[in-house]
Amino acid sequence: MDFKEYIRVIPDFPQPGISFKDITTLLKDGEMYRNAINELKQMVADLKIDVIAGPEARGFVVGAPLAYALGVGFAPIRKSGKLPGATIEAGYDLEYGKDTLAMHTDAIEKGQNVLIADDLLATGGTIATSINLIEQLGGNVVGAAFLIELNDLNGRAKLPENMNVFTLMNY
Ligand code: PRP
Repeated sequence: MDFKEYIRVIPDFPQPGISFKDITTLLKDGEMYRNAINELKQMVADLKIDVIAGPEARGFVVGAPLAYALGVGFAPIRKSGKLPGATIEAGYDLEYGKDTLAMHTDAIEKGQNVLIADDLLATGGTIATSINLIEQLGGNVVGAAFLIELNDLNGRAKLPENMNVFTLMNY
């Protein structure tokens, strides 16, 4: 299935030189959105997953439907100051800018198998920080699933060497 046909590439957003991969053009097509989630579901079928963790905001639109499809829970990874309960936090660098991610301290039970889901793997900073948070909570990261990977930014280098990484599209 050519999912790329449904991705709108916008030059120089949000900064000059960045070629933004806009997934809204995929999301608005109900059949293709479902196809994309179903394909990720098949890719991770061999993993034992207890919970999916997804970083806001676009990680929610991939992670939550995937969790629903698999019949597992969803743990939101949010930017600092958004979660109401007790949290742990970790700072990270983005492809453009800096931020802090947080999780509720009870989002993951010790020993649970966690799949991370997001729309995009770019520099890998978001996922590396997500792994850090999940492992601090005692979770076991079994893999990461993305709609899109930007190969030139080599995000995989920031992830553990033997980690399962699944992507629908590469640029
Ligand atoms: C984007 C994207 C990924 C991350 C990828 O999120 O949705 O989460 O950047 O970049 P990285 O691999 O270089 O870390 P962003 O922080 O822009 O937040 P948003 O989803 O709320 O727009």
